[in-house]
Amino acid sequence: MKVLVTGGLGYIGSHTVVELIQKGYEVIIADNLSNSSIEILKKIKQITGFRPLFKLIDFREMDEVKSLFNEYEFENIIHFAALKSVSESVKFPNLYHENNVGSLNNILECIKSNPRKNFNLIFSSSCTVYGQANKLPITEDSPVVKQESPYGETKKKCEEIISEFCKKNTNLNSISLRYFNPIGAHKSALIGELPNGVPQNLVPYITQTAIGIREELTIFGSDYPTKDGTCIRDYIHVIDLAISHIDSLNYLINLNEKNHYSFFNVGTGNGTTVLELVNTFEKVNKIKLNYSFGGRRDGDITEAFADCSKIHNELKWKANLTLEEALESAWKWEKNLNSKD
Ligand code: NAD
Ligand code: UFG
Repeated sequence: MKVLVTGGLGYIGSHTVVELIQKGYEVIIADNLSNSSIEILKKIKQITGFRPLFKLIDFREMDEVKSLFNEYEFENIIHFAALKSVSESVKFPNLYHENNVGSLNNILECIKSNPRKNFNLIFSSSCTVYGQANKLPITEDSPVVKQESPYGETKKKCEEIISEFCKKNTNLNSISLRYFNPIGAHKSALIGELPNGVPQNLVPYITQTAIGIREELTIFGSDYPTKDGTCIRDYIHVIDLAISHIDSLNYLINLNEKNHYSFFNVGTGNGTTVLELVNTFEKVNKIKLNYSFGGRRDGDITEAFADCSKIHNELKWKANLTLEEALESAWKWEKNLNSKD
């Protein structure tokens, strides 16, 4: 079974590629390396024993996307390729729209022009589409709200485009996965998250502080209406997240239906405060972290954690790995990265 993985050298993509190869899928990675490195291919080979096919392409370029569809035989697509920085998207909204929405439109155009083939598409969405939900845990019935950032807008827009496309085209079935907060790395510590510049996300900031690249972690806000005053998120191990893509794909492959579109939360169902996460990191890795409390970060929501019963009931997927395992793997990855510097 062949699978095209767009953005397959990125953080979540590379972990998914490893899981796909280990389950016997034939993978074609297509990436423009805008936020990843070709070195990841070697790491994938080191872990799995296989070097997947790789095509350097930019999904914004229709000619390149067309030649990819002509050159390779595939009907299954996992679409990770996108830009993902919320703050960068505020500075460059057009870039985010062109890259994230434009790339999806090019893929859909190629699907449309191959009507004799039936495609399955898994799309990387985000729990950002819910904003600050009124009811927790967040179910898929929670309304999708107007987005605060251009990045969030691209995710909302892409979901809408896919949903409409599936209604009109019988040769595409699709699932959007709304990720909560992916963290951690492969247990080999050969692949993991590679933040560009100063990390904006909590766990890479923690590991870079622990290793001495950053002086101190600032915990953004200590006066939120939560049990310890810090924000609550649902942190999911990237390996569990990777597996959710394969389960989603298998569901579509075995589906005897046309015009199918559905969307699922992918989280653990557990809400963890920033302070709890910091304490767990210190405990499992036997390390003291330098941190202090600062003001709230603009745009942060107080609390988000998933109700994952829909994906469990319909796709039989659930998270299996713990926060401890995720934070242990994140630290092992950071140490491995720095041992080579
Ligand atoms: P990442 O930046 O590590 O990976 C994205 C990959 O896509 C990179 O390898 C990049 O080079 C490639 N890419 C980007 N634009 C491209 C283009 N036009 N053509 C070809 N390749 C392109 O990001 P990630 O964390 O692995 O995220 C993967 C997906 O998951 C993204 O769609 C992201 O928006 C979504 N997501 C991520 C998170 C998160 O916290 N990491 C949360 C929710 C959703
Ligand atoms: N945090 C800190 N200090 C830091 C970094 C983060 O205290 O240096 C806190 C944040 O304030 C937040 C929590 O840690 O309370 C998690 O922050 P992240 O930036 O890791 O994650 P977010 O939930 O804010 O954002 C993530 C993705 C976004 C996506 C959003 C959806 O990074 O792309 O989830 O809700 F849009």
